[in-house]
Amino acid sequence: MLILSAADVYKSVTMLEAIDAVATAYQEYSSHEAVVPLRVPINVPEHKGISLFMPGYSPRNEAVGVKIVSVYPENVKNGLPTIHALVVMLDGTTGKPVAAMEGGHLTALRTGAASGVATRYLARADANTVAVIGTGVQARTQLLAVCSVRNVKQVLVYDVNPEMAALYASEMQVQLNNLLGKEVAVTVAVSSRAAVADADIIVTATTSQKPVISGSCLKKGVHINGVGSFTPQMQEIDEDTVLLARKVVADSKEAVLAEAGDLIIPINKGLLKPDTIVEIGDIVSGKKPGRENDDEITFFKTVGMALLDVVVGNLVYRKAVEKGLGCNVSL
Ligand SMILES: NC(=O)c1ccc[n+]([C@@H]2O[C@H](COP(=O)([O-])OP(=O)(O)OC[C@H]3O[C@@H](n4cnc5c(N)ncnc54)[C@H](O)[C@@H]3O)[C@@H](O)[C@H]2O)c1
Repeated sequence: MLILSAADVYKSVTMLEAIDAVATAYQEYSSHEAVVPLRVPINVPEHKGISLFMPGYSPRNEAVGVKIVSVYPENVKNGLPTIHALVVMLDGTTGKPVAAMEGGHLTALRTGAASGVATRYLARADANTVAVIGTGVQARTQLLAVCSVRNVKQVLVYDVNPEMAALYASEMQVQLNNLLGKEVAVTVAVSSRAAVADADIIVTATTSQKPVISGSCLKKGVHINGVGSFTPQMQEIDEDTVLLARKVVADSKEAVLAEAGDLIIPINKGLLKPDTIVEIGDIVSGKKPGRENDDEITFFKTVGMALLDVVVGNLVYRKAVEKGLGCNVSL
């Protein structure tokens, strides 16, 4: 069995490879081929913690896997991270465990790739200006993914924490240079309004409960990837934006209707009809259209799904074997 650290996961696959894998996973999900049971939570009240077990099976990849994510907010008192994550992969043909890998970077990689797929099908072909709202862990792979599928020339970023935004801008400037082999300006904006004013693509990856962008400041033809909100009360994207969007696209309709306040709140107010929401997997497979003209506003909402961990985890495992990464352990 191969043990892979976060650094091994990072070295194993490129963002473009992850985007292609996620595109097929979405098709597999929306055509009901994949098996993605509900996640199983185990509460540990004695230590104010919770561990979530998220399994999945991808028949196309003959891969079974489970991601285990623990959230222990009290850990910070002892200098430990709040979140720990591990992905265990099994060979789908034999059931044999083949790999265990650090799950934090894998999550960021597959979540970035999810927005990469949506941007590929929904952003304008000539989109070149990106706004990133929220500059934490996810925002890094989000920007790498968007820049992997569009010829980005300019990036404006905003975070309520200006130090986080400044650090992000300087780090991402270097990473984009390495990825694209050209200079892309990454600039901190004074407000989220200023960041999005000229954007062709917007990424929101915040922990905010309240909207971080307003429909009134969006440019025609913009595409938005909404990554942050994950409870019915959290509304990272305001109602005006959702109503302006000609296409509202989800990773999983079932999941966003259960978890994403961005959509649940306008639905509960009677402003948005659930049956107008389409799944990205149906766009990838050609059953539904992607962007149809340069003026329409499009909104992709993702809350994440274990199938992406399984499909990208399987790819990471295969590439790591090819590249001789990780540490082999006989069980
Ligand atoms: N969709 C998915 O599959 C998926 C996967 C992983 C994480 N997430 C979610 O994405 C969000 C971001 O995750 P992360 O790991 O990057 O978190 P993080 O804590 O590393 O970063 C969040 C950033 O958002 C900033 N922020 C908070 N409120 C803001 C506001 N009003 N305006 C601007 N910036 C604001 C914070 O200062 C911070 O820098 C979380 O809600 C997380 O649960 C979604």
